[in-house]
Amino acid sequence: MRITLTAALMVMALAFTASAAQAKSLVIVFSHTGENYNVGNITTGNTMKLAQIIADKTKSDLFEVKPAKEYPSSYNECTDIAKREQNQKARPAILADKDISEYDTIYFGYPIWWGDIPMCLYTFIEAHDWEGKTIFPFCTHEGSGAGRTDRTLSATMKGANVHRVVAVRGTTAQNDPAASEKALAPLLK
Ligand SMILES: Cc1cc2nc3c(=O)[nH]c(=O)nc-3n(C[C@H](O)[C@H](O)[C@H](O)COP(=O)(O)O)c2cc1C
Repeated sequence: MRITLTAALMVMALAFTASAAQAKSLVIVFSHTGENYNVGNITTGNTMKLAQIIADKTKSDLFEVKPAKEYPSSYNECTDIAKREQNQKARPAILADKDISEYDTIYFGYPIWWGDIPMCLYTFIEAHDWEGKTIFPFCTHEGSGAGRTDRTLSATMKGANVHRVVAVRGTTAQNDPAASEKALAPLLK
């Protein structure tokens, strides 16, 4: 009888471990490399730096949204194209998609482009079902804070519980990991 009880407890412990392992979270990020405001020519984007910290600390998977047609490295050319896309309400094609159905918690990162999310992220958002998901948005910027992205995300990620955007200066994200981690504390709890 004692052996049977021990075996049952072991099975329950294994089942609990397996279900805990299934509760996966995901970091989704778009981030631009090349010439960028106040940070020179970068090989890892500012927002990607934050995404890497979050993925590491929360043991999340990480998915990078990449546009099918890369944005130019040149800062001025990139801002021109981004403005045009925004004016036209464009939905630029993305290189690859990601099945998000297995994730309940999603960290969603982006740079502020002209006060909003880059248009290729509308492409990604509109292709997915956000019902019931918990979203922790984070962004980098160079002065305008989160812009209008709190509203954008609540309006587009229908049915999700969208938390307030954590906004970090791009220069801080790029150059100061300790300050970045501190700024991200509300997401890392
Ligand atoms: C196309 C474009 C538009 C931008 N628009 C804004 C803006 O409206 N407000 C702001 O504070 N910063 C703006 N920036 C600066 C970026 O938000 C900032 O450099 C950010 O950290 C870049 O992150 P990334 O390296 O992950 O792409 C803009 C940068 C680009 C390239």
